[in-house]
Amino acid sequence: MSTALTATSVRELPGPPGIPILGNLPWMAPSRLHHVLDRWCAEYGPLYRVSVPGRSIVVVSDPELNRDILRRRPEDFRRQSTIESIMDEMGSNGLFSLEGDAWRRRRKLAMPAFNAANLRSFHPTLEMITERLRNRWLRGSPDDMRADLTRYTVDVTAKLTFDYDINTIEQSGDVIQRHLEHIFPMLNRRLNLPIPYWHYVKLPADRALDRALRALRADTDDLLARARATVPEQPRNFIEALLLAQHDDEFFTDEELFAEALTILVAGQDTTSNALAWLLYHLAGRPGVQQRIRDELAEIPSALDRQPYLEAVVAESMRLRPTTPLLLMEAVRETAVGGVRIPAGTWVVVDVGYAAVQPANFSDPTSFDPTRWLGETAHGTHRPEISMPFGAGPRFCPGRGLAMAELKSVVAMACDTFDIRVPDGVAPPRERFDFAVVPVDLRLELVRRSA
Ligand code: HEM
Repeated sequence: MSTALTATSVRELPGPPGIPILGNLPWMAPSRLHHVLDRWCAEYGPLYRVSVPGRSIVVVSDPELNRDILRRRPEDFRRQSTIESIMDEMGSNGLFSLEGDAWRRRRKLAMPAFNAANLRSFHPTLEMITERLRNRWLRGSPDDMRADLTRYTVDVTAKLTFDYDINTIEQSGDVIQRHLEHIFPMLNRRLNLPIPYWHYVKLPADRALDRALRALRADTDDLLARARATVPEQPRNFIEALLLAQHDDEFFTDEELFAEALTILVAGQDTTSNALAWLLYHLAGRPGVQQRIRDELAEIPSALDRQPYLEAVVAESMRLRPTTPLLLMEAVRETAVGGVRIPAGTWVVVDVGYAAVQPANFSDPTSFDPTRWLGETAHGTHRPEISMPFGAGPRFCPGRGLAMAELKSVVAMACDTFDIRVPDGVAPPRERFDFAVVPVDLRLELVRRSA
C-alpha cells in the first residue's frame, strides 16, 4: 500500500497518557490485557497508540482495518516477531509462528490434513471420543470442567495429528495435557515482559515450563517414532504429510517435526477447550436454549449436517467470548493503516473482540441471543462478518472445521444427556487473558436427565 499521501504518524495518534520510561506498561496487566485495551478503544477510538519501554504499539479495533491487516500477510504484516523467537526457544516454531516462505511451504503441506474429506472420515473417531467424555461425566459431575475439556481436545488433536489414541479422558493423573497447559500462559507472560529475564535467571514458572517441554518432547518423540514406522503412500494425517514430504523436496529435521507436532497440539488444545468451556457456561442456566438444541437434534442428529440452531449458539458464544480476541502483528515493511504511516517493525494489535460487542454492529450486543444469527426476529443491526473468532486472511485458522465439529459434538452430547446448570450461589467465572481467554473458577453442574 502506498504511504505517499499519508501524513499522520504513530506519534500523532491519540492514546492514554503514560509515565516516563514505562509509558502505559503499569496499566497493562497481562492477565487483563483484552479488557484494558478494550476500555482504551472506547476512550481513544478505533486506532490509537500505547507506549511500552522502547516502542509505541498501535491498537486497531475497526473491523474493516483489522480484516485488511490480516489479509496483507505475509507481505506487509507478520505475527509479532517475539512470538517466533519465544516459540523457537520453546522448540515449537511451527505453522503458527513461522513467517514468509517457510510459512507458505508449511501451510501448503498442512492444509490437506484439515480438509473436509479428512474431517468427514475422522468423524466416527470424534464421536467415539465424545462418547468417552459422556461416560466420564455419567460417573459424576466434573470437579474441574476445564481440565476435562482439555483432556477431550488433546485426545481429538492427537488422534487427528498422529492417528494416536492417547485417551487421556479415561486416565487420571499427570498426563500430556498437564504439560501442554504451561505453554500458552508462559507465551503470554514472556510476550508481555520488556526484558527476557529467563535468559539469565530461571524462576519456578520457567523451570516448570522446561520440565513440561522435556516431558512433551519425550511423549512426542514416541509418537513420531510410531508414525515413522508406518508411513503409507498417501498421508492420512498431519504428521504423515510432513514425513512423506521428507522424501520429496522438503526435508524436516526431528526438531522441526517436534516443533510442528507441538504447535498443532498447543493450537488445537487451549483454544478449543476454552471455547467449549465458555459455550457450556453460556448454556448453563438457559434451559430454553438447551431444549431447543435437543429439539433440533431430534430432527437433525448428525453433526456432519447443518444444524442451524446449534451453529447459531456456537457463533453467539464465540462472538461474546472469542478465545483469542487480540492478534499480535508487526509491520514487515513501511506501510499504512487507515491513513497512518506505520514504520517497519511497528507492533500492531488487531483487537477483533471489541467490535463484536458494539451496538453499531449487533443490536443489544452484550446479551446472549443465538436467534440473532437465524434472522428469526427483528434484531435490528446484525453484521455477522464482524465476528472473527478464527482470524481472517491467508493465516485464517486451519483448525476451524475440526474445532466446530468438536464444539457441536460436545454440546449435543451434553444437552442430550444432562441439564447443564450453574450450582446455587456460584459466581460467574473470571476472565484471564493467557493468550487465550480462560474462564477461571468455572463451576458447572451436570444433572443427568431422566431417560
Ligand atoms: C475454537 C477453537 C479455535 C479457535 C478460536 C482458534 C483461533 C485461531 C486464531 C484466531 C488463529 C489466528 C488466525 C489469524 O492469524 O488470522 C488461529 C491460527 C491457527 N490455528 Fe486455530 N483456533 C481454534 C482451533 C484450532 C485447532 C483445533 C487447530 C488444530 C488442530 C488449530 C490450529 C491453528 C494453527 C496451526 C494456526 C496457525 C495458522 C497459520 O498461521 O497459518 N486451531 N487459530
